[in-house]
Amino acid sequence: MSTISLRNLTPSILLISLLLPLQLFDAAVAKESKKGAKKPDQAAARALKKKIEEGKTLYRLNGCADCHSINNKGCKSGVPLDGLSKTRSLEFIKEHLKDPEEHVKKNAAAYENSPNMMPDMNLSSEEIGSISQYLHSLPVLKKDEQKQEKQQDNQQEKQPDNQEDK
Ligand code: HEC
Repeated sequence: MSTISLRNLTPSILLISLLLPLQLFDAAVAKESKKGAKKPDQAAARALKKKIEEGKTLYRLNGCADCHSINNKGCKSGVPLDGLSKTRSLEFIKEHLKDPEEHVKKNAAAYENSPNMMPDMNLSSEEIGSISQYLHSLPVLKKDEQKQEKQQDNQQEKQPDNQEDK
């Protein structure tokens, strides 16, 4: 009896053992191709992160902090570069680093008609690319952020008063 039923079962066991790995393989392929779609984004993000790191090092090596400050570090009386992306585009920053004299002349209004005071730092276009990415990534100074939040809080606190007046 038992040998007969086992013989009957054998084809189905064989079938299952063939199909199961196939299905698992399909699922694995589907998962991989999903990952593949994300990969270019991740690679770009990693490349940008690396550029920003290089830029940070170049900023230090070229003595930019002699005239500039970031997060209150560097020349206190110099030009702060925190939150630069709020006011300057990446291209604008690049143009400035390429030739400060020419750039300030061309964008006199953006520099309140002051003459250029920054020397040409003799950077290669690769170095300019990295430093610009770094400067463009700088957050707004915490102190300024708090100031902005306080202003918003004050406005929100005033609103109930206004309603009572009505
Ligand atoms: C001798 C002082 C000095 C040094 C060194 C210097 N800068 Fe400047 N930088 C200035 C001054 C002053 C300005 C304001 C505009 C001008 O006069 O060109 C400025 C402007 C800038 C701006 C434009 C800011 C804006 O809001 O438009 C960037 C970006 C900048 N510097 C980056 C750098 C980097 C990066 C380095 C180092 C590679 C550097 N600077 C070295 C003095 C300096």
